[in-house]
Amino acid sequence: MNILVTGSNGQLGNEIQELSRQYPSWSFRFIDINELDLSSQKDVRTFFSMNQFGLVVHCAAYTAVDKAEQDPLRAMTVNATVPGQLAALCAASGTRMILISTDYVFNGRNFKPYSEKDPVDPLSVYGRSKYEGEKAMQKESVAGLILRTSWLYSGYGSNFVKSILNKAKKQEPLRVVFDQIGTPTYARDLAKAILEVIPEVMKMNSLELYHFSNEGAISWYDFAKAIVDIAEIPASVSPIETRELTQIAERPFYSVLNKAAIRERFGITIPYWRDSLKDCLSKLL
Ligand SMILES: NC(=O)c1ccc[n+]([C@@H]2O[C@H](COP(=O)([O-])OP(=O)(O)OC[C@H]3O[C@@H](n4cnc5c(N)ncnc54)[C@H](OP(=O)(O)O)[C@@H]3O)[C@@H](O)[C@H]2O)c1
Repeated sequence: MNILVTGSNGQLGNEIQELSRQYPSWSFRFIDINELDLSSQKDVRTFFSMNQFGLVVHCAAYTAVDKAEQDPLRAMTVNATVPGQLAALCAASGTRMILISTDYVFNGRNFKPYSEKDPVDPLSVYGRSKYEGEKAMQKESVAGLILRTSWLYSGYGSNFVKSILNKAKKQEPLRVVFDQIGTPTYARDLAKAILEVIPEVMKMNSLELYHFSNEGAISWYDFAKAIVDIAEIPASVSPIETRELTQIAERPFYSVLNKAAIRERFGITIPYWRDSLKDCLSKLL
């Protein structure tokens, strides 16, 4: 089976690359913007006319949440138009597709974990662009998955874990919001889940939507505190409120995802956030 993974230089793409070695009977092709700019429709069509895939795992995205507010056109092109075009090409060739989406499609006013049936109401350009990407994929008769995830981190790329570690090591003051609640997701766990569900996805004839994050629910403050505690860096972390920050994009105050559906559908086990954080830190430190 030929599997195309986009966004291979990103957090999730890199984790899939690393784990793909455990699947020697599948043939993987990893691409990123240096090889193919997915926003060039002509180049994408040419690429698909020259290559055939059984599955496309679409990890590439415009992920700069604040920058997206100032460049909505680029965010919409990469996060909405591109998935739509990929989905159309996949539908035409009977290729399955997995699209990664986000908890930021929700407005955060829930008081219990969001299920796939909860209404969306994105607060930011990034959230809206990702939701438009979901809709663009749903318009095509493509079979596969939309997987919404949250607060991704990894040993690869830049992310919250690495930024807290760097600041803590330099003894910089750590002021972190305690009023945004969600669940961190170790990109390696998401990569592992994606690879585990592929055999089932290849049997699917329709598009299904699921939520995936690590288990548990915490604030960014709790997350930062756990990072410095596990790393045994003597740093002090101060809790602050979102209104004390100057973030350009609005974030949901509560974006915990309910994973009951994906656990039940695919029989996967999802690690607790702190266990996964320890795992990632043991590799990073
Ligand atoms: N990061 C999070 O906290 C988070 C949370 C929820 C959901 N997600 C979703 O999870 C998925 C994976 O996220 P991630 O953190 O692994 O992302 P990431 O580290 O930002 O990687 C995305 C990759 O896509 C590439 N890319 C951007 N525009 C492209 C284009 N036009 N053509 C080809 N490649 C392009 C990026 O290249 P450049 O770096 O050069 O732009 C980057 O290598 C994304 O769909 C994201 O929206 C992420």
